[in-house]
Amino acid sequence: MNILILGGGGREHSLAWAVLQNPKCDKLIVAPGNAGIAQIAECAALDIEDPEAVLGFAGDNLIDFVIVGPEAPLAAGVSDVLRAAGFLVFGPSQAAAALEASKRFTKEVCDAAGAPTAGYAHFTDAEAARAYIRTQGAPIVVKADGLAAGKGVIVAMDKATALAAIDDMFGGAFGGAGAEVVIEEFMEGEEASLFVLCDGETILPIGTAQDHKRIGEGDTGLNTGGMGAYSPAPVMTEAVTQKALDEIVRPTVAEMARRGTPYQGVLYVGLMIRDGQPRLVEYNVRFGDPECQALMLRLGAQAMDLMHASAEGRLSETNVIWADDHAMTVVVAAQGYPGSYAKGEVIGGLDGMPEDSAHMAFHAGTARRDGQYVSNGGRVLSITARGPSLQEARDRAYDMAGRIDWPGGYMRRDIGWRAL
Ligand code: AMP
Ligand code: GLY
Repeated sequence: MNILILGGGGREHSLAWAVLQNPKCDKLIVAPGNAGIAQIAECAALDIEDPEAVLGFAGDNLIDFVIVGPEAPLAAGVSDVLRAAGFLVFGPSQAAAALEASKRFTKEVCDAAGAPTAGYAHFTDAEAARAYIRTQGAPIVVKADGLAAGKGVIVAMDKATALAAIDDMFGGAFGGAGAEVVIEEFMEGEEASLFVLCDGETILPIGTAQDHKRIGEGDTGLNTGGMGAYSPAPVMTEAVTQKALDEIVRPTVAEMARRGTPYQGVLYVGLMIRDGQPRLVEYNVRFGDPECQALMLRLGAQAMDLMHASAEGRLSETNVIWADDHAMTVVVAAQGYPGSYAKGEVIGGLDGMPEDSAHMAFHAGTARRDGQYVSNGGRVLSITARGPSLQEARDRAYDMAGRIDWPGGYMRRDIGWRAL
């Protein structure tokens, strides 16, 4: 098969790596890719949020199967245009991608499906939203309805912060994404994520993970896209996982089918778990980054068969071969991230890095200049390792990370602390 992966981060490097393990892959193109991906696959410049451009590219390159990495092309309708032209695609339709693109939509689906989640109210008017916050009190969570690159959620521990968030959102701080807000009950507990493949009807869980969203050690400081992750998540016991599948995921997938917008692709199920009861925090319509890196190292070549079965509607006849292993990924970011940071700094130490089924230095934001790797983003590397225990996966990942020669790099030293 000729395969096209859309995206260019650490997630897509790990997807490309897994796809290349599988003998069914004849040719792989990643668009736009990055300097690390370019070492293993052909990279192509392409506006991946332009459905017609992606369609033309897939046709010109005789692509058989398109794997969509990030949410933006899905929200832009890329998968619909490809499917209408007869291409096989891994990733939901634009209508089903609303499970990530609209918080209100997700809440309405949860209501209809009876899925446990935080109580909420929805507002298009700032004064009504303020009045609601004054009666509810804090802690309370204010969310911009639309996609806001992970920045549209304010967990307010006091009323003043919540009211300020309303001013920001209706003042246009998140553009169109903030023209509607969802205000939610604050949920306490431990967060984890569950990754489930769907083919419209059948669901197939493929792993659990926990990530560290804050920039600082001890889970402090500003929110980021994710500074590290590990899989499996110890809090996702068999019982909690079954509850999440039975009470949240299956009813959601059934509700999406009932609405005539069946969900196909991977569903990222963000959960809050307290006293053994999971409640939905959010859905994402793609793999998490960096959770995907840990999952791909664990699944290896079968990841490609699983995604293919999801796209072809064959999940009911598909199984996951589980290994009793653990994986961890440690993100190396540019100093200053998630604020402003430098680009173009030389990164040494990557050439001698072990690369095998237990160790991979995935690239998230690198470029190539004069034969050297240079930083080209906020999250730059995603150092990933696997082992028989989480401790061993951790030791391997940090051993690799320690070989990176980049004074301007920053990593958290405590990824996995809750579990270890
Ligand atoms: P989201 O963008 O929906 O993932 O939200 C970002 C983060 O905000 C989540 O990972 C949680 O840590 C936190 N969060 C979101 N909603 C709630 C809630 N209702 N209660 C507590 N924390 C929340
Ligand atoms: N790591 C969180 C996310 O991908 O949304």
